[in-house]
Amino acid sequence: MGRRAILGACLTAATILAVGVVALNPGNTLGQEATQAGPFVAPADVDTNALRGPRQPIFYRHDIHAGQYEMDCRYCHYTAEVSSEPGIPTISTCMGCHSIIGSGNPEVQKLRDASSEGRSIEWIRVHDLPDHTHFPHMIHVNAEVTCQECHGEVQEMVQVFQFAPLKMGWCLDCHIERGVTTDCTACHY
Ligand code: HEC
Ligand code: HEC
Ligand code: HEC
Ligand code: HEC
Ligand code: HEC
Repeated sequence: MGRRAILGACLTAATILAVGVVALNPGNTLGQEATQAGPFVAPADVDTNALRGPRQPIFYRHDIHAGQYEMDCRYCHYTAEVSSEPGIPTISTCMGCHSIIGSGNPEVQKLRDASSEGRSIEWIRVHDLPDHTHFPHMIHVNAEVTCQECHGEVQEMVQVFQFAPLKMGWCLDCHIERGVTTDCTACHY
């Protein structure tokens, strides 16, 4: 069974746990071989001070979830196709797995504590356009502009950072290239 199938279904928590333990073991040569063989393996040892992007309240890693375990972006950002904001997942999305997976990991413990205390996680925003601009996600996602074109290879990021400049010229360059509107009122209120 592929990793995608394992995670997509999240059926056999024991299997995920077993795979997870292997992945988390820093001295694991199996993992290192796999890096060379092709499938992406998230690094076990990370210098957190060298990372780009804001430090988040919980050290959630896209490279482990979306990279190594190949979870679909929309599993967590599920409103990307239907809403102007793709949405940040709630704790219950995480706890579907983490009520079982990750015991002993202090970052997972923070998640479990927040969940049992009914607190939400105050994630720090990485991207934030000024209020006078209008950016509809669903139009872009439905036009098959990939997440990576605008956000970079998030599935390999240990910590998310802003990849594109998000300046007006950046928006316009692509709109001109693809014959999309450059009317001021399309993007400005
Ligand atoms: C298991 C859930 C999960 C998956 C899968 C996931 N994300 Fe995320 N994503 C999060 C969480 C939680 C945050 C907020 C914390 C952070 O910024 O790391 C986030 C933040 C982000 C942000 C920054 C948002 C901001 O604050 O501006 C981007 C961009 C993003 N994700 C893109 C992606 C892409 C692209 C994929 C697929 C390659 C993906 N995510 C897969 C959970 C997920
Ligand atoms: C489909 C299952 C699944 C979901 C949903 C999920 N995770 Fe994970 N998570 C994993 C697996 C597998 C690992 C790696 C194995 C382990 O830690 O035992 C992991 C690891 C982690 C770790 C430890 C990372 C490290 O540095 O070792 C944190 C923290 C974490 N997840 C947070 C989250 C948060 C926050 C969410 C929700 C936004 C989330 N997870 C959603 C499966 C999941
Ligand atoms: C055409 C470029 C573009 C594409 C394609 C795109 N994004 Fe974004 N994304 C942005 C911009 C610009 C922002 C900042 C929006 C704002 O601040 O209002 C953003 C913000 C976000 C946020 C934070 C928003 C929030 O609710 O806090 C997440 C999460 C995110 N994107 C995920 C994704 C995912 C997942 C995909 C693919 C399914 C995707 N994006 C595709 C440009 C893009
Ligand atoms: C495709 C989207 C898009 C279109 C079309 C667009 N803008 Fe913008 N504009 C933006 C974004 C995004 C920003 C915020 C980022 C920045 O400051 O570059 C911005 C910022 C601005 C600012 C503020 C700059 C500053 O320094 O604070 C002005 C003024 C502006 N736009 C005027 C216009 C006018 C006039 C037009 C029509 C000729 C136009 N825009 C068309 C996306 C757009
Ligand atoms: C990588 C290419 C790309 C980038 C970058 C991009 N866009 Fe777009 N945008 C598109 C495409 C393609 C469409 C047209 C979708 C359609 O017509 O189906 C579109 C459509 C739009 C629309 C709807 C236009 C209408 O006809 O009503 C708005 C608003 C918009 N974009 C705003 C922005 C803003 C603001 C930014 C920068 C923050 C931006 N876009 C960056 C490709 C891009």
